Amino acid sequence: LTEDMKLTVIGCGYLGATHAACMAELGHDVLGVDVDADKVSRLQAGEVPFFEPGLADVLRRNLAAGRLRFTTDHRDAAAFASVHFLGVGTPQVRRGYGVDLSHVESAIDALTPLVRGEHLIIGKSTVPVGTAAALSQRMAVLTAPGSRVDLAWSPEFLREGFAVEDTLEPDRLVLGTDPDDEDDRAEQVITEIYREILETGVPFVRTDWATAELVKVSANAFLATKISFINAVSEICENVGADVSTLADAIGYDARIGRRFLNAGLGFGGGCLPKDIRGFMARADEVGAGQALRFLREVDAINTRRRSAMVELVADAVGGDVLGTNIAVLGAAFKPESDDVRDSPALNVAGQLALRGASVAVFDPKANDNSRRLYPTLAYAQSAVEACEQADAVVVATDWAEFVHMAPEELADVVRARVIVDGRRCLDAAAWRSAGWRFYAIGGPMRAVPRSPIARRANSDSELPQVATVATPP
Ligand code: UDX
Repeated sequence: LTEDMKLTVIGCGYLGATHAACMAELGHDVLGVDVDADKVSRLQAGEVPFFEPGLADVLRRNLAAGRLRFTTDHRDAAAFASVHFLGVGTPQVRRGYGVDLSHVESAIDALTPLVRGEHLIIGKSTVPVGTAAALSQRMAVLTAPGSRVDLAWSPEFLREGFAVEDTLEPDRLVLGTDPDDEDDRAEQVITEIYREILETGVPFVRTDWATAELVKVSANAFLATKISFINAVSEICENVGADVSTLADAIGYDARIGRRFLNAGLGFGGGCLPKDIRGFMARADEVGAGQALRFLREVDAINTRRRSAMVELVADAVGGDVLGTNIAVLGAAFKPESDDVRDSPALNVAGQLALRGASVAVFDPKANDNSRRLYPTLAYAQSAVEACEQADAVVVATDWAEFVHMAPEELADVVRARVIVDGRRCLDAAAWRSAGWRFYAIGGPMRAVPRSPIARRANSDSELPQVATVATPP
């Protein structure tokens, strides 16, 4: 068992709150710090301020065990522990492609002058390469005389919807430290903190700051590229009547390619992939290697093009123009098992349809409230059936299991026309057709049978349904 350690987690948003609860779950004594008093009091009361399966249980269990507390005061953090994880947000800047580091900088500025003795800050946020080196210089100026504060970078790879699982059972751990410092103190500390995880044999990559920072953005850029690759191929499939899902299965059997992240559809969204590829391009420009990542512009463009292609497909499905039609949009979150609507393809499509004069009713099992804040003028329904009342077309925009398993008969009597548009290629096209619906899928025809979400869960994957059979039905 891991020997108890005291540590703090600065920033209790999506990443930080999960990290704090999971570190307490490993047996450590954890103090979560956030400048948002409301967030702190909700977490302290055992309430997770966003939807993340399983997190509330871990949070409550560890609050009750006395291993976890939350505060708004950095002085508490400086006094509580000598190891501090940094998990604040690094959003895209308002203008341009760069990354807004103000939260990271203000956390460092608040904590560093307060600590006494030897402390270690372990950055987890996704940052442009060179950030740790710059922060370290900033810290040198702020550190109290006679004290020492080291900085390490250990990027986080968790997926929303699987945050607890990904934190406690990661694919790998990465630790980057100052390349000019021979000291292995950070490595010893991390080894101690993650002992239970490391004992399972998970790969532990030891490197320098810059490599660690680049690992994270490269991983996300690769995933984004994989999705845009298959979506680009789907544009060709659309034109020639080929089935991109079957194609993905066939190329995915090649272990060098792999089937995961090859689901064509509305493309990627969320708080990470879109912003990370843009931040990566911006930094590449700054370090004089802009040419190297020019292809990511195309990855981004392919991705956003899917959204307008979807709007065109819906227009085709209702006879050419959505003006004056009723459209039900099922799903608003950027992916299932999440209430996150940041850069959500689903919500973007709903907004575009409304701009074109459709009367749009949105339903998402978890993201209605967040969506309403972003798009207050759309109508929000309490159920899929309610959203579909008098609809001229039903659009599936997020592949929640409840939509994947919707019975065509259930909606048949409430809609005005039996028209369904599958934006995630997640429905059983044959079942809808045989129930008398006109079926449209983004990315070209669908001939295969989607796999059940049970199989997807067992696969421990947040990806879209894969295909159970590659046979083409008669
Ligand atoms: C991502 C990375 O996966 C994770 O490792 C990193 O730490 C943070 O960014 P996340 O943003 O939670 O995680 O979502 P992810 O599961 O990667 O999905 C991203 C988007 O891609 C979603 O909108 C999803 O619907 C879409 N997607 C995913 C596809 O369109 N096709 C696929 O095959 C897979």
